Amino acid sequence: MTTSFLTYLEAKRTVDDSALDRRVLEQFTNALSNRDGPVRLVELGVGVGAMLSRLIEWDVLPPRVSYRGVDIDSSCIVRARERVPKRLESAGYTVGAPRSVGNETVEDGVPKATSFVATWAPSSDDETATEIEITLEVADAFALEDDADAVIAAALLDIVDLESTLAAIESLLAPGGLCYAPITYDGSTAFTPRDSLDASIEAQYHHHMDEVRPAGGSRAGSALLESVADRPWSLLAAGSGDWVVSPVDGGYPHRERAVVSHVLETMADALAAVPSSDLPEESRLPAEKRRRWFERRHAELEAERLGYVAHNVDVVTRVP
Ligand SMILES: C[S@@+](CC[C@H](N)C(=O)[O-])C[C@H]1O[C@@H](n2cnc3c(N)ncnc32)[C@H](O)[C@@H]1O
Repeated sequence: MTTSFLTYLEAKRTVDDSALDRRVLEQFTNALSNRDGPVRLVELGVGVGAMLSRLIEWDVLPPRVSYRGVDIDSSCIVRARERVPKRLESAGYTVGAPRSVGNETVEDGVPKATSFVATWAPSSDDETATEIEITLEVADAFALEDDADAVIAAALLDIVDLESTLAAIESLLAPGGLCYAPITYDGSTAFTPRDSLDASIEAQYHHHMDEVRPAGGSRAGSALLESVADRPWSLLAAGSGDWVVSPVDGGYPHRERAVVSHVLETMADALAAVPSSDLPEESRLPAEKRRRWFERRHAELEAERLGYVAHNVDVVTRVP
């Protein structure tokens, strides 16, 4: 994966921080705290470990957790192995030395799985000691076995085949296990200032997600809600995890400009891969007009005046 993708994953952490539906997250963490004994979590598509660090920093996990974070992309796991310990140390955790789990390596000799323990010691009697064993692993979500109390899939279900991923998630869960799937894209990408070509650009972007990309879809969030309703799963909570990036006082907060820049690049690549003849008449756009739309958007980004809003769905469910 490119450096810019890793930069994007790191930069989107604060966008997700604001976006995550707190009621859905609270339902998830409350249900988790009712599980017996040390809690086993599996995160699919863990990226650079942003959700893992967040849940620990926000102190919403039970006191004893074993957390298995998996990503198919080894560069994400390498970056997560660097970043997560640093973040946890900044949050006051003592982080043990990492050790390889087994001897298997992937490309460039990167260990397939490494593990470390993060502990937090209370300073008063009314606080609880925390111990989290974290394993970061290069693996395909579809080739795993586990018996987890919960599976987390953040910003993943819109880029994979939904039905087979839900089946894989079910197979990873212990009876009564939870699935927390926040930031699942659902059919709306908007920019400010508005532009007369936006609707056509968005339609082409969605067409790429639905018809050209090998998996995923532009209405994955709604499809997820439908799919959960069709299964014997209980929906515990659903809400919106919308991304809103906007310049504040003439500049982007944190590193959020990189998020918008990456979205524009992704859209440009997507649109370039859609043959115009594939599109309904009303969405077709001469290449020159499309090029100028991107030029305008990049100029607005440079001038720190481009805003970006995307609609996502957050869901927490329980299997029987
Ligand atoms: C949009 S990113 C989201 C990363 C992270 N969950 C976050 O929200 O920051 C999707 C991640 O899923 C990973 N991924 C895609 N397909 C996968 C698969 N079959 N197994 C494991 N990871 C996968 C990608 O490598 C990428 O890191």
